[in-house]
Amino acid sequence: MNDPCLAATEGSATENPYTQNMSLLISELSGDSEEHLVQMITSFAHSLSHSKMRCLGYPVNLEFDYEALAPLLHFHINNAGDPFVGNSYTLNSVAFEVCVLDWFTRLWEIEKNQYWGYVTNGGTEGNLHGILVGREQLPDGILYASEESHYSVFKIARTCRIQCVKVATLRSGEIDCFDLKASLLAHKDKPATINLNIGTTMMGAIDDLDLVVQTLEECGFIRNRFYIHCDGVLFGLMLPFIKMAPRLSFTKPIGSIAISRHKFIGCPIPCGVVITRSGYINAMSRDTEIISSRDATITGSRNGHAPIFLWYALKKKGLLGLKKEVDKCIKNADYLHNKLREAGIVSAMKNEFSNIVVFEKPQDDEFARRWSLACKGNMAHVVVMQHVTVEMLDCFVTEFLQKRSFKHQINRHKNQTSLCIADEVGGNLHSF
Ligand SMILES: Cc1ncc(COP(=O)(O)O)c(C=O)c1O
Repeated sequence: MNDPCLAATEGSATENPYTQNMSLLISELSGDSEEHLVQMITSFAHSLSHSKMRCLGYPVNLEFDYEALAPLLHFHINNAGDPFVGNSYTLNSVAFEVCVLDWFTRLWEIEKNQYWGYVTNGGTEGNLHGILVGREQLPDGILYASEESHYSVFKIARTCRIQCVKVATLRSGEIDCFDLKASLLAHKDKPATINLNIGTTMMGAIDDLDLVVQTLEECGFIRNRFYIHCDGVLFGLMLPFIKMAPRLSFTKPIGSIAISRHKFIGCPIPCGVVITRSGYINAMSRDTEIISSRDATITGSRNGHAPIFLWYALKKKGLLGLKKEVDKCIKNADYLHNKLREAGIVSAMKNEFSNIVVFEKPQDDEFARRWSLACKGNMAHVVVMQHVTVEMLDCFVTEFLQKRSFKHQINRHKNQTSLCIADEVGGNLHSF
């Protein structure tokens, strides 16, 4: 099944028997036969392949092959504790983990003896760790986050009872430094932790790090009175490969960077990376005798397979392979953006250095679900990842236009206006 249009019409995930079927119930007294279980899993894998052909709205790379790692499924690999200290559970993969972390330090320009980090369960855990490190540095600090920040950031503030100030954004989705300045000046007596978006979830906007630092300085926040955590779940790994893109680097006054590695690199299991400065980690750490390690991570047990998946992908692709993939995603996103605009969707927008194309939310929910679109308010977006081909995009646009024109006819008949997101994204600007 390689035709995305056929795949798109052959039944949606909601029709998939394995999402509804009672045979998933675990009720057998004596256990089910291996043959039947294999049949069920094969069938589920088949339905996942169908869904993959029309998965457009989520920032996950579904194009990978880790067949070579299958032998590792016979082992429980666990990296509990500090990867730089190791632990007494010998079935660990901390050697792979440290190699992976070292690779990221070259990307984000920090010396090996100056950093600390670990492989997380994803972007949320990386954000939690980064923001907690900030809180330990500046215990009475206020967290500033733009209103386009991921929901995990506000959840972290609530969970850790950190006072959080929401900052307005520009139409591109980027943090509005005028509003940030006003908020900083209003709370000048307290230090500031900034959640900086290196690619917002919905619009792929990149907060201007240099301008944020300048704003902090203009408001009188000297270096030891602010902490910047960079939420770079998707773009943190892409930007270094894009010519002229803003530089994400520890040579600037940032405290931590978190990424989701299942997003750009692709992985069957969610995971991520967080890197911070080694000088900050002592405040988070406790020696833990029972595992002969130091406890400085969010969870106790940690996925030992994830670092190996990451190591394998980085080693196989190399820097050139990664650059090629970044270029392809951006090129295909430009293609979709142009195609929508040429078709009359003039409010379709794409930020510079981004692989996210934003457009009006389809008014047909079933269509949105079939293409796994993520919607917010009047907006929907497509995140052009490695598995998204030009053929898939062509098929998507054709179907989108058909549904839209049908809906317009109905709206005209009922004297209703149709959706347009020009106001949200700034008129019919081509890009920002
Ligand atoms: C900007 C941003 N931050 C954080 C997250 C959370 O990452 P995860 O789903 O890996 O926990 C996401 C998820 O899409 C995101 O877009």
